[in-house]
Amino acid sequence: MARYQAVMGPGTLYGVGVGPGDTELLTLKAARLLSEVRIIAYPAPNGGESLARRIVAPVIPETARELPISIPMVQNREAARQAYDRAVEQMSSHLSLGEHVLFLCEGDPFFYGSFMFIHERLSPRFPCVVVPGVTSLTACAAAIGRPLAARNDVLRIIPATLPKERIRAELKQADAAAIIKVGRHFDKVRALLEELGLAQSSAVVEHATQGDQRIFGIDDVPDGERPYFSTILVYGGGEPWR
Ligand SMILES: C[S@@+](CC[C@H](N)C(=O)[O-])C[C@H]1O[C@@H](n2cnc3c(N)ncnc32)[C@H](O)[C@@H]1O
Repeated sequence: MARYQAVMGPGTLYGVGVGPGDTELLTLKAARLLSEVRIIAYPAPNGGESLARRIVAPVIPETARELPISIPMVQNREAARQAYDRAVEQMSSHLSLGEHVLFLCEGDPFFYGSFMFIHERLSPRFPCVVVPGVTSLTACAAAIGRPLAARNDVLRIIPATLPKERIRAELKQADAAAIIKVGRHFDKVRALLEELGLAQSSAVVEHATQGDQRIFGIDDVPDGERPYFSTILVYGGGEPWR
């Protein structure tokens, strides 16, 4: 008896940007894919709640299968590498069976997003589609009602995790700056902005577009821990800083 076997191609991995927090900032494309792709994966940092999942929670179909991917937020590169290898194995078992997988990314997938570590592992083996999202940078600028940069300004994006000397050098060169990953580095950055006379041109935006969004001048920030999802925008407005 002849035996027939269905020939099925591999599934597609979709890396989908879900924006900075407000569900209404999902793109139409992201919303459509969420309604169509059955397996929805997302990073669950250190086993905690996934912000990306929380953003899309109102539009996740009941029939979706969820795949939380544990990503440890650690400095140790080897531990992170192993976690991404494990994550990729989880997803590739579905992709190999011809099932599409949608991976949720806060903001935009390729703007400082951890999706790039998944993409570099899976894109040589499976079709991958990257769907851009609204970035936290543009959301923060909108929240404070001030442009990020204009005309010939050079905008520098500076991770606060860099050493103080490097941040100082970058700020001295910049026409406008966005300092990301502020969190526990806030005091270091505030001291630098004050030293460089930029405190008055700086605004701190925490949890932009989320229910608990807060905006401060650099000198008004309350004592205590700063959240990881905070960004400092530095811009002098129409007049140059110097
Ligand atoms: C690893 S980066 C990811 C950026 C993200 N992929 C994007 O497109 O905006 C994380 C940093 O982005 C900034 N960030 C992300 N979401 C934010 C939000 N809703 N409000 C303020 N800053 C945010 C913070 O500086 C945070 O430390």
